[in-house]
Amino acid sequence: MKSVRARASLPRAAAALLLLLAAACGEDHVSRYPQSTFAPGTEMAEIQIGLFNLTLYLGIAVGLLTFGLLGYIMWRFRYQPGAPEPQQVHGNTTLEVTWTLLPALIVAVIAIPTVKAIFDTQPDPPANALEVRVIGKQWWWEFQYPVNGDRDTIVTANEIHVPVGQPVHLKLYSDNVLHSFWVPQMGGKRDLITNRENHLIFTPREPGVYMGQCAEFCGDSHALMQMRLIAHTPEGFLQWLQNEASPAIEPVDSASAVALGRTLTVQGACAGCHVIRGTPMLGRQGPDLTHFGRRRTLAAGILENDAENLAAWIRNAPAIKPGSLMPQLGGGVPNGLTEEQISYIVAYLQSLQ
Ligand code: CUA
Repeated sequence: MKSVRARASLPRAAAALLLLLAAACGEDHVSRYPQSTFAPGTEMAEIQIGLFNLTLYLGIAVGLLTFGLLGYIMWRFRYQPGAPEPQQVHGNTTLEVTWTLLPALIVAVIAIPTVKAIFDTQPDPPANALEVRVIGKQWWWEFQYPVNGDRDTIVTANEIHVPVGQPVHLKLYSDNVLHSFWVPQMGGKRDLITNRENHLIFTPREPGVYMGQCAEFCGDSHALMQMRLIAHTPEGFLQWLQNEASPAIEPVDSASAVALGRTLTVQGACAGCHVIRGTPMLGRQGPDLTHFGRRRTLAAGILENDAENLAAWIRNAPAIKPGSLMPQLGGGVPNGLTEEQISYIVAYLQSLQ
């Protein structure tokens, strides 16, 4: 009974695999699989997929040859009553030399481009590179754009903006455990290591939004540590940078929900952990919120940045992201925020364009 079922499921598994391959190679590949390594958007990603393909095709060739020969030999020299014993090859020098040299040759064919790729993907930073510092947090990403040395550094979170056609030089750090920066279409991965500076250099080609993800296990919410790389035209990037450099927008109408929200945010629980430039908020624990309203997502890329999600996040962040350092602030927690207060804070944060 069991073997019949196993036999029936084999063609089904093969069909599923074929479907998967067909889907993977389809035209809307990237929209279906936004973190695909098969759609390189930089030279670095191209070098990496080139190596992958070389190894894959060599592996397929070796596999076909080995199993083909094995099948042939098993059939050709199968047991037949009365047949003489086949010729024995133990100690055959020609065979021994052949199957020692052939794998060595294959390894060399893989090793030479691999070593070249290691050097090609770790170049010295070009003089015209845009420098961005990336700091791995638990569990989100901080991005710092040094301006005027370090005096007016622009800080943002979870969405890294870059121009196309200019090399991007990421300096990677962690202030806690290991993380790994990985936006597959840009290339990578590269680790963020405590007490060490790591580097990643690539040049985005096409404007667009590229999905990324922490690729090194870093604790409870590792799988919820996502990011987006937004590649702009050079003009679009400058506009974004100029807007980020400006202090937070102040509410015009002092009786509005936005103004009430500002008071609650600046004087309340948020101030200890977040910065909003232009206000007295100086907390360095959590993400910089100066232009929070412009971000597409919140909670390191796992939620769309809309009023409902933001309210849910403020109400009880650890329920959405296990282990989150942001505590539960509403939802009936003692001395917590009321729903009305949360709605004011949401209105204020969304106004921060
Ligand atoms: Cu950070 Cu995994």
